[in-house]
Amino acid sequence: MSDPRPAAVGRPLLEVEDLRVAFATRRGTITAVDGISFSIGEGEVLGVVGESGAGKSLTGAAIIGLLEPPGHVAGGRILFDGKRIDNLPPAALRRIRGKEIGAIFQDPLTSLNPLYTVGRQLVETIQTHLDLDGAAARRRALDLLKEVGIPGAEHRIDHYPHQFSGGMRQRVVIALALSANPRLIIADEPTTALDVSIQAQIIALLKRLCRDHRTAVMLVTHDMGVIAETADRVAVMYAGRIAEIGPVRQIIQQPQHPYTVGLMGSIPAIGTARDRLAQIDGAMPRPGAVPAGCAFNPRCRHAFDRCRVERPELLPAGASRAACWLHVAGSDRFSSPLRGEDQGEGVSQRPVLAGSGAQAATPPHPNLSPEGRGDGV
Ligand SMILES: Nc1ncnc2c1ncn2[C@@H]1O[C@H](COP(=O)(O)OP(=O)(O)OP(=O)(O)O)[C@@H](O)[C@H]1O
Ligand code: SF4
Ligand SMILES: [Mg+2]
Repeated sequence: MSDPRPAAVGRPLLEVEDLRVAFATRRGTITAVDGISFSIGEGEVLGVVGESGAGKSLTGAAIIGLLEPPGHVAGGRILFDGKRIDNLPPAALRRIRGKEIGAIFQDPLTSLNPLYTVGRQLVETIQTHLDLDGAAARRRALDLLKEVGIPGAEHRIDHYPHQFSGGMRQRVVIALALSANPRLIIADEPTTALDVSIQAQIIALLKRLCRDHRTAVMLVTHDMGVIAETADRVAVMYAGRIAEIGPVRQIIQQPQHPYTVGLMGSIPAIGTARDRLAQIDGAMPRPGAVPAGCAFNPRCRHAFDRCRVERPELLPAGASRAACWLHVAGSDRFSSPLRGEDQGEGVSQRPVLAGSGAQAATPPHPNLSPEGRGDGV
């Protein structure tokens, strides 16, 4: 399924079609990612947000082939540059991972071997993917460390990961992720484990490097400030599904799904708070306990009969797409239930939505430029 993307962004680099990720358990198969579709264009940054357990990390892991058993891709397709990668043999996938698709995780130590110097790890990664001799690979490693802002890189290249601070380690991980010039980076909460004061620096670095290298990014984060600052488009995940996907400015200022309306109630500036998404009463269902129909229906005051029996597809909703029956073509429900003060039971923040094509009730987020994003990636 396609999704809306600004015209300026290039052709799809990554296409995820009806992806399902499941776990075999003693009580049967549990589906944790349940039929999601989206694409990422060349050089585009797709932000992925949603409550804990929504399936964000599993989606990223499925794309780079790092799902840990018993987790597995149970359906759908993943295409990279037009070619299927979800069914590749492990060796072929390893070649793509690192070379074409890089990864940055929350904890830099996940990506670094404590027994080797950062230089050795960079050189090995570079030589695995690029045809360079030892001296040239070391020069490239040094250049990368300088590019990610490691002071005294000439000496630090021979240091071990534990000799770096958390922020500096994440810079090394970014250098590693970029070392073979990948076209896509999966960044799963890359700043969550860092001090608040360091987070903005790391995001700014990632943003600059990806813009310079024209690297696309799937950026998983709980930080709406980071999304506002960095993303071109946003996918909002709920209970293993995409609730809404669209351009960042639209998602923040004119959310079209009741769940997104709740999430967008409060968006602090980048790096100012750790618990950034607004609270919505009730809990997201666990995989295996997702209600019939719309997964959000027990928490949604707009729910009506159809919501409890039939799962909504992503439907055109303003400049976005939202999996909500309020947006079904020809429906008169959309303009009424979400209007004005009526924003959904238990949603603790004020409303943003005001019907199709309506203006946002909130002022633009301070992190958004008039073009709808930061200075671009
Ligand atoms: N090995 C596993 N076995 C069973 N269920 C799992 C396994 N790994 C993950 N899950 C479940 O799949 C769901 C999605 O997990 P995922 O890690 O993708 O969430 P997330 O959106 O990244 O959350 P967070 O924001 O906390 O990182 C969760 O409910 C999680 O408990
Ligand atoms: S109105 Fe219905 S379909 Fe839309 S979010 Fe609420 S429960 Fe889901
Ligand atoms: Mg996660």
